[in-house]
Amino acid sequence: MTPEEFRAAAHELVDWIADYRAGVADRPVLAQVAPGEVAAGVAPSPPELPEAWADVLADLDRVVVPGLTQVQHPGFYGWFPSNASLASVLGDMATSGLGALGITWQSAPALTEVEQVVTDWLRQLTGLSEAWTGAIQDTASTGCLVAMLAARERATSYGEARGGLQEETQPLVVYTSPQAHSSVPKAVLLAGFGADNLRHVDVDSTTYAMKPEALAAAMAEDVAAGRRPAAVVAAVGTTGTTAVDPVREIVAVAAEHDAWVHVDAAMAGTALLLPECRWLVDGVEGADSLGWNPHKWLGTILDCSLLYVRDVEHLVRVMSTNPSYLRSGVDSEVVQYKDLGIPLGRRFRAMKLWWHLRLDGVEAIRARLRRDLANAQWLAAEVEAAPDWRVLAPVTLQTVCVRHQPVGPDGEPLEGEALDAHTLAWVERVNATGRAYLTPSVLDGRWMVRVSIGAEPTERADVEALWALMREAAG
Ligand SMILES: Cc1ncc(COP(=O)(O)O)c(C=O)c1O
Repeated sequence: MTPEEFRAAAHELVDWIADYRAGVADRPVLAQVAPGEVAAGVAPSPPELPEAWADVLADLDRVVVPGLTQVQHPGFYGWFPSNASLASVLGDMATSGLGALGITWQSAPALTEVEQVVTDWLRQLTGLSEAWTGAIQDTASTGCLVAMLAARERATSYGEARGGLQEETQPLVVYTSPQAHSSVPKAVLLAGFGADNLRHVDVDSTTYAMKPEALAAAMAEDVAAGRRPAAVVAAVGTTGTTAVDPVREIVAVAAEHDAWVHVDAAMAGTALLLPECRWLVDGVEGADSLGWNPHKWLGTILDCSLLYVRDVEHLVRVMSTNPSYLRSGVDSEVVQYKDLGIPLGRRFRAMKLWWHLRLDGVEAIRARLRRDLANAQWLAAEVEAAPDWRVLAPVTLQTVCVRHQPVGPDGEPLEGEALDAHTLAWVERVNATGRAYLTPSVLDGRWMVRVSIGAEPTERADVEALWALMREAAG
């Protein structure tokens, strides 16, 4: 494709994207395809000759869009907000157009230095001290894995340079909440600690936050049994209920054993842009790493996850490689992002974050977040006031966990499996309308429904319409 052919096609594509975004609210929220249907619409073998651009573009409507759940829809309340602000889309387009190669500072000084500046902007915006250094990772899952590798190497005094974990005489133990995201145990396992050395520490039965005294007891028990506490992953804004583990207390307990503290605030990190929400990470200055995802509620298009560490020299020592073909005369003066994470090659991911903040402006982003927090409080109050409806967990952020528990045929409130069946049936009815999408999830062994507010276009009127739909669906 020549630049001139690209120019013509890209203009059409931009028009298509703008029309798609403008009309997204008219589409059903949930993907409308059966398994295999999308693949059946794609040619089974690759083309030998070029196809017409018009045919390729038409496949967006024919094949792709019906096969997507419309997470940019105002009726999207599923999983967590997965906003893709158009300002960040522009940045992503520029990144693709430039086709820069991020392997060393020299391969793309702009990629490196914009990332340094923009991660520092986010540090300032979230109230972290200058002690923290940030790097963009693809996802919070990767960020947590990097943190666990750094924790392992601190606990073993750089055992990677010797016999690794296989040479340790005492098992190293990692602690987290049973409410932590599944990516946390995955990172612990992949970092080689082993499932036998992962503890799920008790949480409070009302707030679902980790109990620091239970953490202290679990660590003491491990020490008495000859094991070594190596790391704690504090969950700030859990996926299920947005529970908030008490970072300050966790840091104090971990410090007694020199255990690494990683704070997983994948979803909640966005809230730190609001000074009134900074209590969420009270005590974070004593932690070792913090990860959060601008690609969720903030609205910087996937993939854009931030990992901050306090001891960047330690991370570099764990991650650095120095093959001859990547060396240069300025190595001692520059940041090499290959040494702050796992991949060598990186995209110019900072561009979309940079443009997002510059084009939308922080003031408007903060106003949107406050709108979502207020919408969640409004919905929670409505649910609490309605007969047979309950809010199941504190509404700390933008997620409201609800259950409808009507009276059954025997005159008693539905319980057990009958209650589960009712919950799954009414949420299915909501989702089948195409007007909204909610995610059912299990809390304390019973199904409940998470209403995760925060899609960029969701206004109060949309939440009011959702609440009416929920009541209608639950009967
Ligand atoms: C609390 C929490 N941590 C981690 C993750 C994983 O995020 P990612 O998809 O960026 O790996 C999620 C995703 O939902 C999450 O909610």
